[in-house]
Amino acid sequence: MSTFSGEQITQVNNPDPFAPPIWRSPVFHTPGWIIALVQLWRLLAAIIGFILRHPLLDLAAGVVAVTWLNLGWPGLVLLAVVVPGTLALWWRWRPGSFARFIARSVLGKWRRWHYRRHWAAVMTIGRLAPLYRGRVLLPELGKVSSTPYTDRVQVRMVSGQSAADFASRAPNLAHGFGAMLCRVRTGRPGALVLELVRRDAFAAIIPALPVPQHVNLRALHVGRREDGSPWLARLHGTHLLIAGATGAGKGSLLWSLVRAMLPAMREGLVRVLAADPKLMELAFGRGLFERYGAYACDPLAIVVMLEDAVRGMQARAALLAGKQRDHAPTAEHPFTVVLVDEVAFLTAYLPDKAVRERVKAALATLTTQGRAVGYCVVAALQDPRKEVMSIRNLFPDKIAMRLDEPEQVDMVLGDGARDRGASADLISSDPATGAGVAFIRLETDPDPVRVRAAWVCDDDIRAMTAKHAAGAQPGLRPVEAGAAA
Ligand SMILES: Nc1ncnc2c1ncn2[C@@H]1O[C@H](COP(=O)(O)OP(=O)(O)OP(=O)(O)O)[C@@H](O)[C@H]1O
Ligand SMILES: [Mg+2]
Repeated sequence: MSTFSGEQITQVNNPDPFAPPIWRSPVFHTPGWIIALVQLWRLLAAIIGFILRHPLLDLAAGVVAVTWLNLGWPGLVLLAVVVPGTLALWWRWRPGSFARFIARSVLGKWRRWHYRRHWAAVMTIGRLAPLYRGRVLLPELGKVSSTPYTDRVQVRMVSGQSAADFASRAPNLAHGFGAMLCRVRTGRPGALVLELVRRDAFAAIIPALPVPQHVNLRALHVGRREDGSPWLARLHGTHLLIAGATGAGKGSLLWSLVRAMLPAMREGLVRVLAADPKLMELAFGRGLFERYGAYACDPLAIVVMLEDAVRGMQARAALLAGKQRDHAPTAEHPFTVVLVDEVAFLTAYLPDKAVRERVKAALATLTTQGRAVGYCVVAALQDPRKEVMSIRNLFPDKIAMRLDEPEQVDMVLGDGARDRGASADLISSDPATGAGVAFIRLETDPDPVRVRAAWVCDDDIRAMTAKHAAGAQPGLRPVEAGAAA
C-alpha cells in the first residue's frame, strides 16, 4: 500500500522481522467540500475588506453603475469626457491644489503598490523580518506620500526593533526598492518613516532666482529643497554660519542671500557690510556694498568696519532700550547684515595676533548682542574645527556644504546630524552636481534636509551691480520684512 490514512496504523509495513520500526505521520484527508467552503469564505472576506478599504473606488464604481443604469452608453461616454476634462482644467488653472489633492495622492497610491510588491522580499532578505516562535514577522507598510523626487514611506516596526536597525540596513532598502538613497526618520514610538530618494532633485544647476518684489528677511528664497519646495533661509533674528570645503559653493549662497535682499537694500531697509579677505568672492559686487553698506578686504580695514558695526549696534541698543524688544527694520534703523567670507582667515590664520583678537572680539560681540537690535552675522569658512572657529557656537543657524571629513558634519550641524542622514562629506566634488548642495537643520524638525543653492554666476553679479548700484529706481516696493513675517 502506498498511502496511509488516519485510520490506519502509522507504522510502515516491512516484511523484514529485524528491520527497525519506521513511523510515519498519519495523513488525514480533508473532504473537498470543506476546502471549497474555507476558500470561498476567504475570498468573500478579502472582497469585503477591499470594498471597505477603498471608499473612493466604491463611490466611482457607484457613479458608473448609476449612470449606466439611468443613461446607458451615452451616459458613460459623457462621464469619460467630463471627468478627465474637469481634472485637466483643475490642473491647468490651479496646479498647486491639483498637485496637493489629486496628483500627490494618486502618485502616493501608485508608489505604495510598488512598495507592497517588494515589501516582503526586501524586508526578509534585508534581515528586518525576524523569526519569532517559528513565524516570520514583517514590519508593517503604512501610508506613502510622494513628491516627484522622494517617497516618504511610513513603517510600523516589529516589537523589539529600533530605527537604528533600519538605519544600518538603509543601503539594502535603497537597492531593494530601486531608490538612489534611503534615509530613516524617526516618528512616533514603534513607527518610523523611510525617506527614499528616487530622483536627484539637484541633478541640474539651479540658475539664479529672480530678484523678488517682496523681501521677507525670515524667509529669503535662496534655492531648492530636495522635495522640490523652495529653500527659505532666515536672517532676521539669527546669525548664520556656512561651512564648506573649497569649491563647495559658499559664494553662491552668499550671493543668493544678497540677491534675495536687493529690493530691501535699495529701500534703505537693509545694509550689507561685506568683509572679503580673499578678495575673490565679494569684490565682484563691491559697488553694490559700497552703495548699500560697506566693503572691506584689507584685514585692518575689516577690523575697523566690524568695530564700527559694534559701536553702531551698541548705540542702537542704547537708543532702543526699554522701547522695543524686537527690531523691525526702518530707514533710520536698517537691518544690518555683516557678511564675512573666509572668516577663519581673520580669526585663526592671520599672522597679526592683535588684529585676530580684535576680529574675534568684534564678531563675538555682534553675534551675542546683535540679534534683537537688527544685526546679523553671516560667516563662511572652510574648516569648522573649534581651533579655527572658536565662536562657532554663537551662530544659531548653520549650513553644512561639502565637507572633507564625516566628523565635521556633527561639528557644524550638531551631534548626531550625520547619523540622521546629513552626509555632507559625501556630496560630490564635481561642481556640476555637488557645488551649492548643502544640509540644513530646520527649526521644526531635528532631521537634516538636503538643499541646493541657486548659482549666481559672474554675469548675474555684474548685472545686479550695474543695475542696482547705479541708482535706485522707483517702482519696487518691498514690504517690511521682519515685521511682516
Ligand atoms: N549653487 C551652485 N550651483 C552650481 N555650481 C556652483 C554653485 N555654486 C558654485 N558653483 C560652482 O563651483 C565653483 C566654486 O564655487 P565657490 O567659489 O562659490 O566655492 P567656495 O565654497 O566659495 O570655495 P572657496 O572656499 O574656495 O572660496 C564655482 O566657480 C561654480 O563653478
Ligand atoms: Mg569662496
